[in-house]
Amino acid sequence: MGEPGPVEGRRSERPSRGVPARRGRDVVPDRPSSGRNAAGAPLEGRAVVGPPRVQAEHLRVDGDVVPAGAPGASLLEVLRGAGIFAAKQACGRGECGACTVLVGDRAVMSCTMPAALVTGEVTTAAGLGDDAADLRAAFADHAAFQCGFCTPGQVVRAAAVLRESVDRSRDEIAREMSGNICRCTGYRQIVDAVCAVAESRQAAR
Ligand code: FES
Ligand code: FES
Repeated sequence: MGEPGPVEGRRSERPSRGVPARRGRDVVPDRPSSGRNAAGAPLEGRAVVGPPRVQAEHLRVDGDVVPAGAPGASLLEVLRGAGIFAAKQACGRGECGACTVLVGDRAVMSCTMPAALVTGEVTTAAGLGDDAADLRAAFADHAAFQCGFCTPGQVVRAAAVLRESVDRSRDEIAREMSGNICRCTGYRQIVDAVCAVAESRQAAR
């Protein structure tokens, strides 16, 4: 069975269906949030606030150097402006997880992450490479995607969750993944896939 195609990076974008795109920089909150949604899932991108600093001219993304973009741009705007489409544009306000990327080892929602605050290496689903081969295979094996639009964000989120620890219960994994919305599969298959990888990584230690 093949790997989820939409995890691929630099290619033409499939339009979001029924979810109007908004500019992420318009919705960055002006005060810290709890960092969790109503289900207790992380909303790292929305919680990002910090002192202004001199914006770097470039970001490192998936091993490449890309222009940092205009002042005030969100990380998602910078990525897509550079032709990196593995981070999807959907809600644009930190509520769906389609735009999830890693900054260092931390998963963030790039639509609400100001690019000027990014100080680490950015990794999209396309840049995870062999580190996420088991996750991509598990998503395929467990039928954890249909249209695939949410899949890059789901895989990035799962990668961050399992980098933090593979010693997680199913409930913990479900909670950590719950901030990433999927309109197709239901969530059982996604949690099944991530749990299977957690178990295989535990066994491989
Ligand atoms: S597009 Fe960023 S959370 Fe929905
Ligand atoms: S597979 Fe279609 S939105 Fe998740």
